[in-house]
Amino acid sequence: MTVPLIIDTDTAQDDCVTIIAAMMDPLADVRAITMVAGNVGFDRQVHNAHLTLNALGRLGEVPIHLGCRRPMVLPWVSAENVHGDGTGGLHIDEEGLTTEDEHGVDALLRITAEAPGEISIVAIGPLTNLALAAIKDPSFPARVKKLVIMGGSNNGRGNITPAGEFNFYVDPHAARVVFEAGFDITLVVWDPLTLRDAVFKRDQLAEIAALDTPLSEFFGHVCAATLAFDESVGIPGTTHPDSLSLAVLLHPEFVLKSARQHVAIECDSELTRGYSAISWGVHGLEPNAEVIEAIDAEAFYAYLKGILATPTVPNRPYLGQG
Ligand code: RIB
Ligand code: CA
Repeated sequence: MTVPLIIDTDTAQDDCVTIIAAMMDPLADVRAITMVAGNVGFDRQVHNAHLTLNALGRLGEVPIHLGCRRPMVLPWVSAENVHGDGTGGLHIDEEGLTTEDEHGVDALLRITAEAPGEISIVAIGPLTNLALAAIKDPSFPARVKKLVIMGGSNNGRGNITPAGEFNFYVDPHAARVVFEAGFDITLVVWDPLTLRDAVFKRDQLAEIAALDTPLSEFFGHVCAATLAFDESVGIPGTTHPDSLSLAVLLHPEFVLKSARQHVAIECDSELTRGYSAISWGVHGLEPNAEVIEAIDAEAFYAYLKGILATPTVPNRPYLGQG
């Protein structure tokens, strides 16, 4: 039984790996990619999505809808210091590369209205598109089968600030709207989950590089900048919270521990902007999300490694880097 899904993404590094996993996993039925302002420049994110489909040999096979080019209230904040341009400077000939005319928010609304209760969404960037869709059509949350969100931390550290994880920091107002809108939410956090269970260390990265396939080579390119940044801040490898979010949807057997918890987002304090206040059940707050607390890290690594080992024939040659 395949899982029809939409990937809402700020396509760079681990977002690219997520698209690869979604396109390669026979359980996934990818209906659309919706783009949201986040990691790197919006147009570069669009090119990164094309580059990723190209590495798969699947260029043009998935509709790409352009969503919100800035957060709801605050100005956009880049993570280019972390990811570079998100794909290691790769380029392909842009001739004939297309995106859909329909806005990403409208695509989220239409695709879920055409199949109420059947479509899941993997939201791996700031939640601007999801929030605006829920505001435009209040019946939207109820017809989304599952909304898997990558964001926040569970009483842990942020990344772009001591308190803020990037996706919730960039658009905290959108995150607040989404957690109050009534979606069936599964939450994959930065700390402790990603930092403990979804970091690929150098020996694992060397195993992936040794696969010597177009996907493993592309993986190395897109992760190089992030690896350098991660190691500069004490993280011993590349981080993969986005593809973990997809994996949790497609392979719940990877989940070792989770709990229904109440999640609320700080919007008003610059110091703690985007902080996800997650109650562990003793504050009388009604849970609004299933928070993933532990996964089988070895199984997750083996899953992604197996996908990257699969031979593909890229559609177009790379035009060099930079
Ligand atoms: O904080 C991690 C999130 O921000 C991930 O979605 C990753 O893509 C980064 O941009
Ligand atoms: Ca992302």
